[in-house]
Amino acid sequence: MRQNNQIAVEFRDVTFSRNRRPLVSNLNFSIYQGEALVLLGRSGSGKTTTMKLINRLFTPTQGEVLFNGTPTTQWDEIKLRRKIGYVIQETGLFPHFSVERNVGLVPTLEGWQPKQIKSRVHELLHLVGLDPAQFAGRYPHELSGGQRQRVGVARALAADPPVLLMDEPFGALDPITRLEIQQELKQLQRELGKTVVFVTHDIQEAFVLASRIGLMYGGELIVLGTKDEFMRSQHPESLAFLQCLRSVQDTL
Ligand SMILES: Nc1ncnc2c1ncn2[C@@H]1O[C@H](COP(=O)(O)OP(=O)(O)OP(=O)(O)O)[C@@H](O)[C@H]1O
Ligand SMILES: [Mg+2]
Repeated sequence: MRQNNQIAVEFRDVTFSRNRRPLVSNLNFSIYQGEALVLLGRSGSGKTTTMKLINRLFTPTQGEVLFNGTPTTQWDEIKLRRKIGYVIQETGLFPHFSVERNVGLVPTLEGWQPKQIKSRVHELLHLVGLDPAQFAGRYPHELSGGQRQRVGVARALAADPPVLLMDEPFGALDPITRLEIQQELKQLQRELGKTVVFVTHDIQEAFVLASRIGLMYGGELIVLGTKDEFMRSQHPESLAFLQCLRSVQDTL
């Protein structure tokens, strides 16, 4: 929820182009500290690109993205990324690192003591439902897709960053585990006051997690509001997404 109206991230007139073609354009919005903003949109609508503009994997072609009030281009890249946990669409685990080393990566880079890292890694593996005794020593190729995704979530949480970017992190999970981990994330986000930007094309997931929903279409953010506001939106793209929610019920 919007706890104290402090702005964590602000997009000011942002356009990002590649080969003179804008991938996202005219982005103007703020993400408040402690909120869970879900970016919803069909494939290719610009969700991942928007995410990458936050942690400076991309820099705006026009306009600016401010993180804690300072444009990302003025941030030291390493310092910026340490403040932002990132779960990427393809999990991005290091294949030659064990689960334990993958999850402990940022704490290691930050110079934590080995004992401290181990206990943090084990705590996180429990949190994402993976028994450390069974999984800590395995390598990513020895895991199922859903297990890899959970390791990716644990890794992003490891050093306790204030902001989490999660790009379709639960796509490979079965619906039961997915619901469980959605609930866990929601609780975590509320208890720890994390700012979460969560990308999905699944409207049901958006409704479970969001304090606000941002709907992207053709590289633009066309609707941004609470779930109620989203339900009332008359934009054809929101109506199309809302219809997906209803169509399941209609078949029953
Ligand atoms: N590095 C790049 N260079 C050129 N075009 C790109 C690049 N990355 C993405 N695109 C294009 O930009 C558009 C938006 O891509 P983006 O990855 O942001 O979509 P998305 O909403 O995350 O989609 P999905 O749900 O499939 O992950 C797409 O048309 C894509 O082909
Ligand atoms: Mg994407």
